[in-house]
Amino acid sequence: MRLQDKVAIVTGAGRNIGEQTALLFTDEGAKVSVVDMDEERGKRTVETINQSHPGSAIYISADVSNEQSVKDMIAETVNTFGRLDVLVNNVAISDNKTVFECSLDDFNKVLAVTLTSQFLTSKYAAEQMISQGDGGSIVNIGSTSGFQGRESAIAYAAAKGGVANLMRGLAVQLAPHKIRVNAVVPNKIGSPVGQEDFDPTRPVPNLAGRAGEPRELAQAVLFMASDESRFVYGENLVVDGGFSAMM
Ligand SMILES: NC(=O)c1ccc[n+]([C@@H]2O[C@H](COP(=O)([O-])OP(=O)(O)OC[C@H]3O[C@@H](n4cnc5c(N)ncnc54)[C@H](O)[C@@H]3O)[C@@H](O)[C@H]2O)c1
Repeated sequence: MRLQDKVAIVTGAGRNIGEQTALLFTDEGAKVSVVDMDEERGKRTVETINQSHPGSAIYISADVSNEQSVKDMIAETVNTFGRLDVLVNNVAISDNKTVFECSLDDFNKVLAVTLTSQFLTSKYAAEQMISQGDGGSIVNIGSTSGFQGRESAIAYAAAKGGVANLMRGLAVQLAPHKIRVNAVVPNKIGSPVGQEDFDPTRPVPNLAGRAGEPRELAQAVLFMASDESRFVYGENLVVDGGFSAMM
């Protein structure tokens, strides 16, 4: 049990990567706050968890781009489970637009939800972890889009570039408090960001020759969240079926 007696927040846990991360964490002994703006999806994840691990998960409705909502999310977790040890920043939205199609409002919205949210949640989670005195782990979900120019998703790629370096800054500033900060960097896992349905015919240019399964990404998040990665700080763990190696 790699997260026995740990308390975790997983944002965007109503679907796909976040959902599988929350499920895997509870399999490994954690108590989990399943955070999602979409109540139906979030509650579905909690129901699934509670079938095998009763009482191990709660649903919290929060918009992670809203400061008060983030503060409330931390408070509700601590009120329910008594502490906070792990934060997984998984929420993102994509614009899927070129620079000419993307309005200023589109751009600001994608940055608020994909990048600024990770600043807010990390800030208030770290305050809570510091008050407990025995550290913690923060795992930010990045994207290969943060390391390359793309023909679309101009705002999303800019936000994910920011995610990579926000993570490094947080790693440096929080290490003195025994909080490790790392990132996991996916490409083509389950359904595309913001979409429900998995299309098996979607072309997947990687060495594995297939899309990744959300559980395969969750396993990397578990490694970064747990003590198994205790000597890893400020690292981007790329889980992309070899996509980056081909670039
Ligand atoms: N799926 C992929 O192929 C892929 C590839 C690269 C990177 N990623 C990254 O992995 C992470 C998860 O991707 P996914 O495809 O599982 O996402 P998804 O779109 O399937 O799920 C995201 C969840 O976040 C919730 N959400 C959206 N905005 C929110 C907000 N403001 N506050 C709270 N909840 C909110 C949604 O309701 C949804 O349930 C993201 O950071 C994404 O950028 C995914």
